[in-house]
Amino acid sequence: CKCAVGKSNVILVTGGGGYVGSHTVVELLNANYSVIAIDNLSNCFSSDKHEKPESLKRVEKITSKNIIFYNVDIRNSSDLDKVFKKHKISTVIHFAALKSVGESTQKPLAYYENNVMHANGVKSLVYSSSATVYGIPQFLPLTESHPTGQGCTNPYGKTKYFVEEIGKDLCTAYPDWKLISLRYFNPVGAHPSGIIGEDPSGIPNNLMPYISQVAVGRRDFLRVFGSDYDTVDGTGVRDYIHIIDLAVGHLRALEKISKPTFTGFQPYNLGTGRGYSVLEVVKAFEKASGKKIEYKLVERRPGDIATCYSDASFAKEELNWVAEKDIDEMCKDTWKWQSNNPNGFS
Ligand code: NAD
Ligand code: WQD
Repeated sequence: CKCAVGKSNVILVTGGGGYVGSHTVVELLNANYSVIAIDNLSNCFSSDKHEKPESLKRVEKITSKNIIFYNVDIRNSSDLDKVFKKHKISTVIHFAALKSVGESTQKPLAYYENNVMHANGVKSLVYSSSATVYGIPQFLPLTESHPTGQGCTNPYGKTKYFVEEIGKDLCTAYPDWKLISLRYFNPVGAHPSGIIGEDPSGIPNNLMPYISQVAVGRRDFLRVFGSDYDTVDGTGVRDYIHIIDLAVGHLRALEKISKPTFTGFQPYNLGTGRGYSVLEVVKAFEKASGKKIEYKLVERRPGDIATCYSDASFAKEELNWVAEKDIDEMCKDTWKWQSNNPNGFS
């Protein structure tokens, strides 16, 4: 996508109708950025394809601010050009992607086509990456210097790695281009208002939305994938991060990338540095919701690793960012969203 770089505070948010995008738009608007959101509505609910998705309508309610929205697919360069010609965009935050690990193994080409961004002409980009780029951890906690790409066993993880590698080459070849790659660990939770939250289509792949759907009665029980890992209780350990902490991390990244002293490509881990097991999350959710979460211990899910958690000290030093919300708040806010919206946005 072509970016008319200027000193404006106009931010283009691709995939703005999604879970991370919509929560980040709240923080951008509250910080007085102007937001242009684009989304092809492939994974967010909209009652009318010519209107902004329900998530962004609710963001406008939360912030009492207006969002300019275009139903645009990032793969359509001419539609993208029209957006850049119409608005003086200073930075792009690139959320738009397909994100199902399982689906990516069945539809690799769809993922390569959709997730490997058209980087021509982008001058200043904050990119949604993932701890998945680290593959199987060679050491823990994971720092940004951990090797990437080697253990990416699924096409989804490879798309994240490929885009980072393309970004590194772009920034090397064109010194005026800047790219911050935010490596998210496990985003969970919802805006404390309970008005927006995670609304996966179909059966949730991820733990937290699955647990919340059990709690609200949409699912009978949780399948715990593996109870024989070398962890505190045999179940998988992950670094869950509250979606609001994650969204604020994007504000800090925007501040950083806008500094003349920032150049080139730089990844930052966005995590809490604390791992929780599946059963610890179940227990925390029961406490937050007052609901019993029925579960069954079943076999491991192929491709899963035992333990993954971050060293986020580099983001603290460089972005002046630290995750502040704990697992109890993650569960409380998830439950408020899910209990207020048993069927999500639809
Ligand atoms: P999401 O599916 O809720 O949001 C993605 C949005 O992008 C959706 O609204 C979808 O309609 C849109 N989109 C997809 N393809 C598009 C295209 N070609 N053109 C325009 N819009 C398109 O997912 P999310 O959880 O908000 O994830 C956002 C980003 O963060 C993704 O890049 C994802 O890979 C990354 N990420 C997510 C997680 C997580 O666990 N949620 C973890 C690490 C990284
Ligand atoms: C967490 C833990 C499961 C569901 C994935 C992607 C990653 C990123 C975040 C996009 C694991 C266990 C899960 C269930 C379970 N997404 N689990 N029963 O696998 O760490 O990361 O989402 O970028 O790229 O790989 O997250 O929430 O799927 O699983 O027992 O029904 O919960 O085994 O230990 P994961 P998850």
